[in-house]
Amino acid sequence: MKRIDTIAGLRASLDAARAEGRSVGFVPTMGYLHEGHVSLMRAARRDTDVVVSSVFVNPLQFAANEDLDDYPRDLERDSELATAAGVDVLFVPSTTEMYPDDHPIATTVTVTGASEGFEGASRPSHFAGVATVVAKLFSIVGPCAAYFGEKDFQQLSVVRRMVADLSMPVEVVGCETVREPDGLAMSSRNAYLTEAQRAAAPVVSRALRTAADAIRAGETDPSAVRRVMADIVAADTGPETDSELDYADVVDAVSFATPDPLAGDLRLLIAVRFASTRLIDNVGVTAPVAPTRGS
Ligand code: PAF
Repeated sequence: MKRIDTIAGLRASLDAARAEGRSVGFVPTMGYLHEGHVSLMRAARRDTDVVVSSVFVNPLQFAANEDLDDYPRDLERDSELATAAGVDVLFVPSTTEMYPDDHPIATTVTVTGASEGFEGASRPSHFAGVATVVAKLFSIVGPCAAYFGEKDFQQLSVVRRMVADLSMPVEVVGCETVREPDGLAMSSRNAYLTEAQRAAAPVVSRALRTAADAIRAGETDPSAVRRVMADIVAADTGPETDSELDYADVVDAVSFATPDPLAGDLRLLIAVRFASTRLIDNVGVTAPVAPTRGS
């Protein structure tokens, strides 16, 4: 695996590959890799000839009060994991390579609709930061396919919408969330949890699974589904976990609006704060088709 730190170096390397007719797959990351990232790299390896991954902790997507400086980093381990997953090129630009000091970024990408509500409500400038860096990375890497985890389902929707609206020649591939054996969705931020918080954290996926079961069993009232999740989080987190439900909701998987009564392809979304660490998770569920009168 080659490690490249400059935009010019990466472009030269990938232009040569493209000139030979080789397809480029891309996995953008902020590093501190785990099995979730590795599964994206493996999918890119399966589908494309040259696999590029980036490690860049993007300051644009962190608010002033967020964990930019403390965001976990371990480039040596990341390089080993990326090599083992079959990545050909690891792009590791510095912040000044991406956002040169004498040329601060004046152009940003805002995806309305998909960026609003849920993570967008809790982190108002977050998705503009994500969309801007992803657009910039796509323009640097020029991939034909890019791989994102469903774990960040709203991010995936924002990226899909940006690519569609701006006619970017990239196929966006969403990949299933990878979970710990106890159901906790893998995330670099799990490293921040205390022992008590880590022990309680599977409540997040348990709440989603129980709500999905309720919908499969015929529950069509969105308020009842929200209550199922809120009650489980309240019951299964003690004061030692310093936790609070941020949101638990059920939305249409494409429009992010809540149908009432619930119908069609739905996404259950949840965010729980454990002290200053926010864990987010989601699952898809299809509401059973109600029997029509006389059938
Ligand atoms: O999901 C992430 O790790 C980041 O939001 C991304 C897509 C790499 C952009 O910085």
